[in-house]
Amino acid sequence: MVNGPEPTPLTARRSGPLTGRLRVPGDKSISHRALILGAMTVGETVVSGLLEGGDVLRTAGAMQALGAEVAQGAAGVWRIHGVGVGGFAQPAQALDFGNSGTGCRLTMGAVAGCRVTTRFDGDASLRKRPMRRVLDPLEKIGARTLEAADGDRLPVIMQGARDPVPIVYEVPVPSAQLKSAVLLAGLAAPGETTVIETVATRDHTERMLKHFGAKLASKPHGEHGRRIVLQGQPELEPAPVTVPADPSSAAFPLVAALIVPGSDVILESVMTNPLRTGLYATLREMGASIEVLETRDDGGEEVADLRVRAGGLKAVEVPAGRAPSMIDEYPILAVAAAFAEGATRMKGLGELRVKESDRLAATADMLRVNGVEAAVEGDDLIVHGKARPIGGGEVVTHMDHRIAMSALVLGLAGEQPVRIDDAAFIATSFPGFVELMRGLGADLS
Ligand code: S3P
Repeated sequence: MVNGPEPTPLTARRSGPLTGRLRVPGDKSISHRALILGAMTVGETVVSGLLEGGDVLRTAGAMQALGAEVAQGAAGVWRIHGVGVGGFAQPAQALDFGNSGTGCRLTMGAVAGCRVTTRFDGDASLRKRPMRRVLDPLEKIGARTLEAADGDRLPVIMQGARDPVPIVYEVPVPSAQLKSAVLLAGLAAPGETTVIETVATRDHTERMLKHFGAKLASKPHGEHGRRIVLQGQPELEPAPVTVPADPSSAAFPLVAALIVPGSDVILESVMTNPLRTGLYATLREMGASIEVLETRDDGGEEVADLRVRAGGLKAVEVPAGRAPSMIDEYPILAVAAAFAEGATRMKGLGELRVKESDRLAATADMLRVNGVEAAVEGDDLIVHGKARPIGGGEVVTHMDHRIAMSALVLGLAGEQPVRIDDAAFIATSFPGFVELMRGLGADLS
């Protein structure tokens, strides 16, 4: 259960070499999008490899509440009968997105051009996260925010536009959720909706819109950006979706294999979309042994089997421009940096303050409580590595799955055990994490 009232602490202990092969669950970003776009398609969409984690299941529930049929079959195969663009029905109750910012913000976009009034809510973590960034463009399209908690936080009641208008929108922060919300709202508007991003973020929404038959053009904008133009009011056609393994989840066993001496692990079918692989580039710069065994195309995304072997790491400076391609990976990179020789500086991490927790502070605290020197300077995180950090800390995870998994990985290679206050939230993105890691030889109990 994702939001169980009783916390479930978990301890990671120094482990022998991690060995074996594993495939981590399906990509979270693609899973949310498959459900939402499947629900906006007329006819049946079959999705295989869907991530059956807490966050994605909330989105599945939201699509059902909005009138789509969503049925779970065996082994990650789901069938969605969509209602078409603009076809959502008035939900009978509030949509509760639990811990999931992606599910919530993308669904806000999806309903913004429909004649329904929707109440959005979430858990204590999601209720702290900013929603104004999404409400701004959706109001320009014609939606109205009828109610919101202080600071434009959840719960929010949004009335969809009667007559949505297409907009040209430059996203003020690099955010794939924000870009996607505008594009999904633009589906219901006549004419062209344009989204401009000065730094490109993950492009799964654009890829999947094309996959479902929408007319969309994405061109370079400036040195690092994209200009995306979507033709509104398409008839989306059902198309099968195969969800590749999530590189953000693979990051945890990958870093564990790098820092637990003697490890040799193969990660199967990891998505290698270049807008998601900043961590892999950074770890290679640090001297990590990550060998690409085989690459192939899997449902429109490139995937690769990766062989990872333990070895010494050295500190690097991670440029701010790389942040969008590894935005969820800083807590686990910080753990790798704790084992590297020298001081690693990760630049431009302001967006981490508005994730499932204040991840900038939570990451620094997680390291410090385990005897690692870490500092936040402005928007930068600096980690001073040592061959074997002490560990021995009790980590407060703040309802944040990635802080929880990162702390446990540290504990597998530190001198002393690392205990986390609550492992329940791991299931929001990586159900089966503990069992898969134990299968490699990790000591978690
Ligand atoms: C996501 C975008 C990112 C990321 C999140 C998933 C997405 O959030 O942190 O885990 O699927 O679009 P932002 O858009 O807030 O950067």
